[in-house]
Amino acid sequence: MLALVTGASRGIGRAIVLEFARNGFDVAINYNRSSESAQKICDEAVALGVKAGIFQADVGDSEQVKELFSKVKASLGAVNVLVNNAGITRDNLLMRMKPEDWNAVISTNLNAAFYCTQAALRDMAKAHYGRIVNIASVVGLVGNAGQANYSASKAGIIGFTKSAAREYSARGITVNAIAPGFIETDMTEILKPEMKDSILKSIPLGRIGKAEEVAKAVMFFAGEDSAYITGQVLAVDGGMTMC
Ligand code: NAI
Repeated sequence: MLALVTGASRGIGRAIVLEFARNGFDVAINYNRSSESAQKICDEAVALGVKAGIFQADVGDSEQVKELFSKVKASLGAVNVLVNNAGITRDNLLMRMKPEDWNAVISTNLNAAFYCTQAALRDMAKAHYGRIVNIASVVGLVGNAGQANYSASKAGIIGFTKSAAREYSARGITVNAIAPGFIETDMTEILKPEMKDSILKSIPLGRIGKAEEVAKAVMFFAGEDSAYITGQVLAVDGGMTMC
């Protein structure tokens, strides 16, 4: 089995790559800028006994995505599992949000999932097998002040997940989404301490989540134990949303 994880040079993507490698999946590690950290993760995966490679591409660019998939295929084979993980934030209140901040977030968080899914589906449909896992967010379920662009992209990915699941279930392909809550990574590191405190108060389990906890849920959707589950959104959020 070969899994391609987008935006995997750090954070949740890194944890997903290592969880796959521990479970015997070969891994294609996509990164945009940080080749050094991607190579480090690749070495860690190889040390776990699987094949792995790093592949540079801005997944918000449809041409680069086409090239990414052909390079992965030439080097490691056809992708069986795709994890659309790459994501960015450009937070601001709605009235102050610039069109470029709106577009950048939609491009990386939503358009990229469309480009990568379309590219992955060709071989998956031929093989009558595939697993696609999209990393959404609780913000896509309940919204968040200051994140209109981000929450729109994540709500979009949830609708996309359900439509793709309906289109491809007859081909043995499942498409599910994970909605992480507040997870300790570089993305959340930049939040002010008072903001972190107020988020913490809204988490019934009383703590911030770990990237590894998201990776375990991704592994479930990528493996055989979830064969009868498609079009679902699983919140990994310490009970934050319960919707
Ligand atoms: P992160 O900022 O640590 O990692 C995001 C990764 O995506 C980085 O490696 C970055 O280089 C990569 N990336 C960004 N733009 C890219 C592009 N155009 N092409 C290829 N790679 C690109 O963030 P984190 O926390 O690991 O986030 C991973 C996913 O989880 C994202 O989709 C994020 O929206 C989602 N998420 C994170 C939460 C959190 O609390 N950390 C909560 C809910 C969702």
